Amino acid sequence: MILRILLLPFRLAIKKYNLYKKEQRAAEIQKKYGNLTKHSIDNPNITVGDFTYGIPIVTLYTGKPYHINIGNFCSISNNVEIIIGGQHRYENISSYSFIPQVESIFYPTKSCDKPVRNINIGNDVWIGKNVTILQGVNIGDGAVIGTNAVIAKDIPPYAIVIGNPARIIKYRFTKDQIESLLRIRWWNWSLDELKHRMNEIMSNDIDGFIKKYDSSRVVQTQDNKEFVN
Ligand SMILES: CC(C)(COP(=O)(O)OP(=O)(O)OC[C@H]1O[C@@H](n2cnc3c(N)ncnc32)[C@H](O)[C@@H]1OP(=O)(O)O)[C@@H](O)C(=O)NCCC(=O)NCCS
Repeated sequence: MILRILLLPFRLAIKKYNLYKKEQRAAEIQKKYGNLTKHSIDNPNITVGDFTYGIPIVTLYTGKPYHINIGNFCSISNNVEIIIGGQHRYENISSYSFIPQVESIFYPTKSCDKPVRNINIGNDVWIGKNVTILQGVNIGDGAVIGTNAVIAKDIPPYAIVIGNPARIIKYRFTKDQIESLLRIRWWNWSLDELKHRMNEIMSNDIDGFIKKYDSSRVVQTQDNKEFVN
């Protein structure tokens, strides 16, 4: 016990030094690659696609394995928090989590928390400021998450959601247009294709874009029969 007390200042100094090194490395990466998420997150449990920017705050309440997948071309604003683990079993007599610090007193025989669930965030997702994302959700391609929303359930592709709990207020495009865009998946195009098609990607001529790039779109004929292009 005395030894532990004597060693405490050293342990604190080492902790402070490690934090300093970590912050220094993060600053270096940021300087070299700018704000792209892929280059700024040093965590094997998080996969981030190309060109996504912004750094979410990942708050962990578990030591168990987890995975967060974030697609290409996502825009992540400030103070976006992703919570993994920490779902107490409130169905039990006590919702208390018998954390490691008290394990040697109570010796709990099973895990106090519900299983950890992964998070999947699609491509071209825009996440506004102060959004909280709870574990286990899938956010579809093209979704827009309004500022201060709390995401507790899956969000369909191209939905615009707000509030706590988040609710859909509208979709960015029509159902058919969304289906086409999900077939085109422009976010997977090569760098050359993206560069050449930049103006089209930034245009609001959705039907023109779909006509040109969705090779299997369903076309309504004059006699009202559908055929696949
Ligand atoms: C979600 C969002 C994209 C919707 O934009 P929009 O289509 O212009 O929305 P509207 O102004 O038409 O609002 C529609 C309704 O939702 C409400 N609303 C919009 N955003 C809201 C939000 N984040 N939270 C709660 N309500 C919101 C509006 O008051 C309006 O309500 P009403 O129908 O009762 O009048 C936008 O409001 C938002 O939150 N953007 C994120 C901004 C941000 O965080 N930027 C950081 C830089 S990346």
